[in-house]
Amino acid sequence: MTEIGLFEALYSARALRRFRPDPVPEALITRLLDAAIRAPSAGNAQNWAFLVVRDPAQRARIGAIYRKGSDIAAAVYAARERPAHLTEAQWARMLGTGAWLWEHMAEVPVLLVPCLRRRDMPEAAALPPAIAARHAEELAYLDRIRGASIYPAVQNIILACRALGLGTVITTNHLRCEAEFNAALGLPEDVQSFALMPVGYPLDRPGPLSRRPVAEVAHADRWGAPWPPGGTP
Ligand SMILES: Cc1cc2nc3c(=O)[nH]c(=O)nc-3n(C[C@H](O)[C@H](O)[C@H](O)COP(=O)(O)O)c2cc1C
Repeated sequence: MTEIGLFEALYSARALRRFRPDPVPEALITRLLDAAIRAPSAGNAQNWAFLVVRDPAQRARIGAIYRKGSDIAAAVYAARERPAHLTEAQWARMLGTGAWLWEHMAEVPVLLVPCLRRRDMPEAAALPPAIAARHAEELAYLDRIRGASIYPAVQNIILACRALGLGTVITTNHLRCEAEFNAALGLPEDVQSFALMPVGYPLDRPGPLSRRPVAEVAHADRWGAPWPPGGTP
């Protein structure tokens, strides 16, 4: 298959949540993971791990946990307003395909679970006194940036799926039942999952992606000043 360009992938790699049951060749899964590990991570620690779940019994367990987490999400979404930038059709599509996945996660041929091994601070005693004095703040800083060491890898998987004719979506509802999820996968104590990504051949077509325009979300030099500075090009 001919590879698509980077920008074509960026502009069309939308959330695909409905899949054919056909298996995904192992070599393609490895290619996705090889793209994932090109991502940046804090301190280049590469403290990630990726679980590839294909076993039907495991997928059934994960599917049931995702369903349970999604029941909570459904209640939250029912109480939410449709964001003003989404049309009725876009909102209905997100909720509709989202609900499809609640029911069918276990049938998707591959469930990828990007994880990170916890990376703690050095002991306070090993630090210069001025830094040791702000040990708690450093721990809070680490917590604040933790996800940034795995979500770039997640986005690489999304783009690599697009390039290889596969579909995927980042989901997180399983984290509402995290202890059960971790037990099902046998995750070590110091390993956390950050996403659950169904991967397969999609029933729906990719892109185009519509988003709030740059002029609405970008600021020049200080919050509130328009970008581009000279007005819409
Ligand atoms: C942090 C995060 C969590 C998400 N969790 C879920 C989820 O649990 N289930 C789901 O179906 N989609 C989930 N999504 C996917 C979003 O709904 C999707 O990215 C968004 O609607 C944009 O879709 P589009 O790229 O097709 O326009 C999540 C996305 C992000 C970034």
